Amino acid sequence: NRDKAWSGRFSEPMSDLLQRYNASVDFDKRMAEFDIQGSLAHARMLTRAGVLSEADLSAIEQGMSEILADIRAGRFEWTIQLEDVHMNIEKRLTDKIGDAGKRLHTGRSRNDQVATDIRLYVRAAIDEISALLVEVQKSLLDLAEQHVDTVMPGFTHLQVAQPVTFGHHLMAYFEMFGRDIERFVDARKRTNRMPLGSAALAGTSYPIQREYTAELLGFEQVCRNSLDAVSDRDFAIEFTSAASIAMMHMSRLSEELILWMNPRFGFIDIADRFCTGSSIMPQKKNPDVAELARGKSARVFGHLMGLLTLMKGQPLTYNKDNQEDKEPLFDTVDTLTVTLTIYADMLRGITVNKEAMRAAALQGYATATDLADYLVKRGLPFRDAHEAVALAVRHAEQQRCDLAELSLDTLRQFSTLIEADVFEVLTLEGSLNARNHIGGTAPAQVRAAIAAARQALGGD
Ligand code: ARG
Repeated sequence: NRDKAWSGRFSEPMSDLLQRYNASVDFDKRMAEFDIQGSLAHARMLTRAGVLSEADLSAIEQGMSEILADIRAGRFEWTIQLEDVHMNIEKRLTDKIGDAGKRLHTGRSRNDQVATDIRLYVRAAIDEISALLVEVQKSLLDLAEQHVDTVMPGFTHLQVAQPVTFGHHLMAYFEMFGRDIERFVDARKRTNRMPLGSAALAGTSYPIQREYTAELLGFEQVCRNSLDAVSDRDFAIEFTSAASIAMMHMSRLSEELILWMNPRFGFIDIADRFCTGSSIMPQKKNPDVAELARGKSARVFGHLMGLLTLMKGQPLTYNKDNQEDKEPLFDTVDTLTVTLTIYADMLRGITVNKEAMRAAALQGYATATDLADYLVKRGLPFRDAHEAVALAVRHAEQQRCDLAELSLDTLRQFSTLIEADVFEVLTLEGSLNARNHIGGTAPAQVRAAIAAARQALGGD
């Protein structure tokens, strides 16, 4: 136990069980590169402030670059005797370079060190995830572009409501993922603040230059209160919240893909490589990837609850509870990253059965609202028009036919305002084209929305 950074105070070693209970290195070694970056910036700042010598600094830089190379090559031996990523690296540095390594921790604590590492980690994750969300958006755009005038039924209550275009439907998800990106970009601002300098909790007596360390690490600001800096993890919660919302959107999209691929819908097919068969039923092709994405949203939501609960009872400042923040955070990043990566690819491999979509839009009286609007334009109050069309739909239902299949004479039984031109508004295309305003489903608007989206993404 003499190897421990705090061993002098203790008269008996930890049991193996307790050592394992206490250790975090098995998972926090994932932050190793950020830990080294943070240490190097801290050492450079201490040198500039005259606390470390130039010779110490170059020994630290040399030692750290060897350690980094070992870690990247998978040669670094992590040990739970040294508890966490921070002490594993510091001990190795000291083994390599002696006293200069022991001086690195001057004016610092693992409390501000770990808070800094997590912030650097989350910042990098945000950048990666935002880029992946853009990839998913591009796939949606490519697919939407092919379907600006592909008609499908729009649903409310999962019942046919009004005709929309498939392109318009896909662009709805484009919007959702766009807001997800905004949320991540916004969370990044609050993540990108530097705890270093807060030391254990109260700050440090050394003449530190926090702005300089922050600049080296690309932090936009330094945390303004040392107690807050070492103890809060709200940035991680905010990140997980944005991730949860993004996964919720992925899950809704997944649910739709699953429905659309069901032969009763038959709207789409998903490329074989994203599906699996059944070990017993030879005919099966199952949309497993979409089901997994829908299912994996659950674990991310769970991590959000976990992190909120982790923090809610902690008195200021740092408590070891905080060590439990990492696994949920890492799993959130992994789950979202892999799901987005797969979806960016999978969406491109979707084939659309336009005939099936069209046939579905023709069932279910999707243009009933258009008929009501037609009557309103001829002077009938909307509520009366609604009732007249409801009766017409009831009649058509009894005849087992669509509104457009009723004769003009039959339609006129429900309102004498109806004339021969009614059949233009009862068509699917007539209905689509009528909704020609910003945000509407008319193909011209969808085309414009796609063009604007492409431009916003920097065009290509
Ligand atoms: N492994 C610890 C964590 O994840 C590092 C900080 C430990 N600080 C302490 N005072 N015990 O939070």
